[in-house]
Amino acid sequence: MNRVYIKTYGCQMNERDSDAVAAMLRGKGYSLVDNEFDADVVLLNTCSVRDQAEQKAIGKAGHLAKRKRKDPNFILGIMGCMAQNRGDELVDKLPDLDLVVGTQKFHRVPEHLDSMIATLQGQGPRPDTIVDLAEELDSQNTIKSHVDDKLQVTAFVSIMQGCNMKCSYCIVPKTRGAERARPMDEIVKEIKELAAKGTREVTLLGQIVNQYGIREFPFVDKKSPFVQLLEKVHEIEGIERIRFTSPHPVGFKDDLIECYGRLPKLCEYLHFPMQSGSDRILKAMRRPYSIEKFRSIIKKMRAVRPDMYISTDVIVGFPGETEEDFELTRKHFEEIGFDMAYLFKYSVRPDTTAEPLGDPVTKEQKEERNQILLEILGKRSLERNQALVGTVEEVLFEGPAKKGENMFLGRTRGNRVVLVKASPRLVGQFAPVKFERATASTLFGELVLEGVEAQSA
Ligand code: 5AD
Ligand code: SF4
Repeated sequence: MNRVYIKTYGCQMNERDSDAVAAMLRGKGYSLVDNEFDADVVLLNTCSVRDQAEQKAIGKAGHLAKRKRKDPNFILGIMGCMAQNRGDELVDKLPDLDLVVGTQKFHRVPEHLDSMIATLQGQGPRPDTIVDLAEELDSQNTIKSHVDDKLQVTAFVSIMQGCNMKCSYCIVPKTRGAERARPMDEIVKEIKELAAKGTREVTLLGQIVNQYGIREFPFVDKKSPFVQLLEKVHEIEGIERIRFTSPHPVGFKDDLIECYGRLPKLCEYLHFPMQSGSDRILKAMRRPYSIEKFRSIIKKMRAVRPDMYISTDVIVGFPGETEEDFELTRKHFEEIGFDMAYLFKYSVRPDTTAEPLGDPVTKEQKEERNQILLEILGKRSLERNQALVGTVEEVLFEGPAKKGENMFLGRTRGNRVVLVKASPRLVGQFAPVKFERATASTLFGELVLEGVEAQSA
């Protein structure tokens, strides 16, 4: 009864939470399997950011519930954002669920599973669904363990939970609660442990990372707590690359921009959500910046690091987005030149301030706008990758590629995906790669063997 499969939907924060739950379960003697068929317990870690994400998980849960009816000892749980958002409603809809665990209760999963299994193995009636959705003080400090049976070359580290912004479209403040930061020394300790086990790159995670500790910790020498944290992480031996996601344009001040000039481990890659290029829509979204302000931050970043790679999030079809508004989004999106982007079609979320506005932009209009941005992105991304063909960059190798014999996947500092024929020895290592060929999403290259290049030149 102790083989667990965790299926994760949604963002990197969810990936991280799932990994921490897996590590905690392992510590309690459970074994983690990589597919639902070999599992006695399936836990779905869910996302609520768009309706589609919720529907996917509900579909999966419905399907798994059928298995449960045939095999009463099979255990099915829903965790994370959708558990938090829909809680009791889920139990009504899916009475076969065993566990419903919210975003501040991930650390309680092992004990809930233990007690569920103990009850199932007893003689009594089928146990009731365990629903655990309450807020918990200091829950941000519970997401710290990592599964360590295989080398994590790159690792996510959760530095805070929750969000105090009031974007009108977003359900996250409801599902994740108010902003709470972890203490700096605990984050540093976690990263030191990862480094000791071979991690070379960390991505610091938070809903709005540059707000890290803004209420809890003081500014020192005019540096924000987030910048202080970056400096501390930068000192950790073994960590060679630092990334973070996601920052908000509000609070993206010069102290952070300057870091890109003086902290060489900070990679020249930034995920920087724009959401819209129209000031009118930004205002309706309750995003408190203008598109000019957004662009001025990017301009400053590029002045410090001209080779910066920038990625973004855009929502198309927010209620009231006219052709003129979208044209502004298109124009700024193209002029800024994003190297990566996550493009979303607006989805109405319950209890958000935009909910009463309905969903007046048609599906077709959203699709068309999405397509226009996708094309711009594809073109720019391909150009940027093609410009790298013939050059050499250091690549950090993460593991085998999904396809191809002896093919390995790595990334440049700019977060470009690289595929190379190599040996497993390279996993966890940095090596120079000469790029031979490019698509919009991938660079294909060859290892540069020291000395050999010099002779043939
Ligand atoms: N509809 C569509 N996209 C959304 N996002 C957040 N809420 C919604 C919504 N209601 C997008 C934003 C955010 C990303 C994580 O998801 O672009 O940055
Ligand atoms: Fe992540 Fe937000 Fe989705 Fe929750 S709702 S999983 S925080 S993207």
